[in-house]
Order: sequence, then structure tokens, then C-alpha cells
Amino acid sequence: MTKEVKPSRSFASDNNAGVHPAVMEAIAAANDGHVIAYGDDPYTARAVEMFRKHLARDAEVFFVFGGTGANVLGLKAGTRSHNAIICAQTAHINVDECGAPEKFTGCKLLPIASPDGKIKIDQIKPLLHEVGFEHHVQPRVISVSQATEMGTVYTPRELKNLAKFAHDREMLLHVDGARIANAAVSLNVKLKEITKDAGVDILSFGGAKNGMMYGEAVVFFDKDLAREFKYTRKQGTHLPSKMRFISAQFEALLSNNLWRRNAEHANRMAQVLARELSLVPHITLTQKVEANGVFAVVPKRYVPLLQKQYFFYVWNEEISEVRFMTSFDTTEEDIAEFVDLVRKTVK
Ligand SMILES: Cc1ncc(COP(=O)(O)O)c(C=O)c1O
Repeated sequence: MTKEVKPSRSFASDNNAGVHPAVMEAIAAANDGHVIAYGDDPYTARAVEMFRKHLARDAEVFFVFGGTGANVLGLKAGTRSHNAIICAQTAHINVDECGAPEKFTGCKLLPIASPDGKIKIDQIKPLLHEVGFEHHVQPRVISVSQATEMGTVYTPRELKNLAKFAHDREMLLHVDGARIANAAVSLNVKLKEITKDAGVDILSFGGAKNGMMYGEAVVFFDKDLAREFKYTRKQGTHLPSKMRFISAQFEALLSNNLWRRNAEHANRMAQVLARELSLVPHITLTQKVEANGVFAVVPKRYVPLLQKQYFFYVWNEEISEVRFMTSFDTTEEDIAEFVDLVRKTVK
């Protein structure tokens, strides 16, 4: 069903935003003559170099079309089908990928209940009692989302602890970084501080939610994991023939701090939205606002009234918790207009 979005900018998803003008320009500039397809081109070489500058000199970087593909293929590179992947119950890989991680990796997901979207080491320990026992799946990856699906963020220390815990047990730490830029900005750290320096092994690096048209990257911080990945990516249908158009976008995003400026803006708008909503009677914020998501309980009867004008997602039907997302192009006027409607409706 096509949903008509009435205001030009809503708060349903950072995926609903358009493309940042600088990224659009980069796409247009890359539309110049012929270059070799499938990534053997100067745009891709430069974009990979930018990734290495921001993340790690020896990172192995592969561009793919989308975030689900980045997660599935990255996880596949680190696992065999008798393995298990530990994640939060709220994780995109658990609830929003139509079982793709299970289908393509063959692994069982072991989801952990997590009201704030984060998983803790004490919750992982009980899942490791059967290591070495052939009747049980063997946990191999801890997968976390940064920022999480609940708009919260792992600190560098928390990531380091998870990585050490994983490595001490011959396991890997995977990060679904669809919103890694929002997390880095929230923590006021460089991208490498919450990836390479924290001990992350496999990273899905998001582009679409931070101003790109499409395109994500799978980054390996261990060369061995990347060794056969070019085959995995092709077999997994994520080898873009005209790769230069993803590469050019990443080059733009990682230049002139565009990634940081976009995420800073989105995060700041989330703070404004959260502050305004917290002042509306009957609305209760449910999560810390650490990135660009605002979660709130809105009494059920008001939800369809608001949705008539602003499409947004109900995150938890049981408690009528909804999600609002801000993006690089959200304005204070957009927020004022929306909050005005909320104030008039919810009373
Ligand atoms: C946490 C998270 N990971 C990954 C994705 C990537 O999804 P897609 O396959 O739609 O690009 C999303 C998109 O909503 C997400 O929120």
C-alpha cells in the first residue's frame, strides 16, 4: 500500500528523508563517461581509502546495496551454519530482516530481552553453557546495533568489554552500524574509537540513513574474515555493477565531515523533539534520547488521529509506544508544526 505522506517531512524514519545535496552532486559528478564496473574504478579506490582513514589503515571494505544485505553477508563471513548469533530481541537482524540472517547464514539467532536495545555481558553468559556440546548450536558472534533500534548508544567502554568477552571465547563482535554516525556524534568520538579501537571485528556501516541515496559498507577489521568475502558478496547478490555511484556517495559523506554534520543535526533535532513532546500531557518518553530516535507512549486513541497527517510507526502495540525519527533535513519548523498538532490532538 502506498502511504501518502502529507507534510513534506515527517518523523517516521530517517529512511524517509531524501538525499543530501552534496551526495546528489557527487552522484552527478560520477556520471561521467565509462569506468570499469564492479568496483575496479577510481571512485571506489578513493572511497575505500576514506574508510581506511576514518576507521583503520588495514580495514577491508566492501560496498553493498542495503543494510540487511550488509548484516547478512557480514555475519555469514564470520560464521558456519552450526553457529549461533547472540543479539538483542529488538535487533534489526532479529525483527526486521524477514529471517534473512537465519536463511543465509544457517545460524540460529539467540535473542536477549533488552528494554533499552542494549545487551549486557551477564545476559550473554547463560547462553554459553553448552559450548563444545555437539547437540547445541555454538555461539560465534555477538551482534549489537550502534546506535540501537531504541535510540540508545553503547559507550566505547561497553563495546570494549563486549569485544574482550567475545575474543576471550573465540567469538566475534559484529556491529550493525546503520546509525554508527549518530552514535559517534552522540558520544563525541571518532568513528575508529567505537569500531577498530573498541575491538569490533565486523561492521555494517550505514549510509542511507545519514544522507545517502542508498549503499552501505561491510567493514572487516580482521583480514582473515574478509578473505573469501568477494565471493560471498557476489553469491549474496550484493555486488553492484555500477559501484562507482555508491562509492562516490561514500566519498562525499566521509569528506568535509559531512557524515558528522548530518548526524549532529539529526541528533540535535531529536533532542528538540523530545523536549517538546515531554511537555505534552499524557505523553511519556520511554527511552533515553541518545541518537536520532524518540520513543514515547502516546495513548492509543490518539495514534490514528496523528497518523492521519503524519505517518509514523507504532513500535510496541501492547503499550502504545511509538517511534519518531529525525534526519539530516529535519527543521525546527517541522518539529514546531508537528508538536502543534500533537498538542491540539492529545489532551
Ligand atoms: C538498525 C538497522 N539496521 C539495519 C537497517 C538496514 O535496513 P535496509 O535493509 O532497509 O537498508 C536498518 C533500517 O531500518 C536499521 O534500522
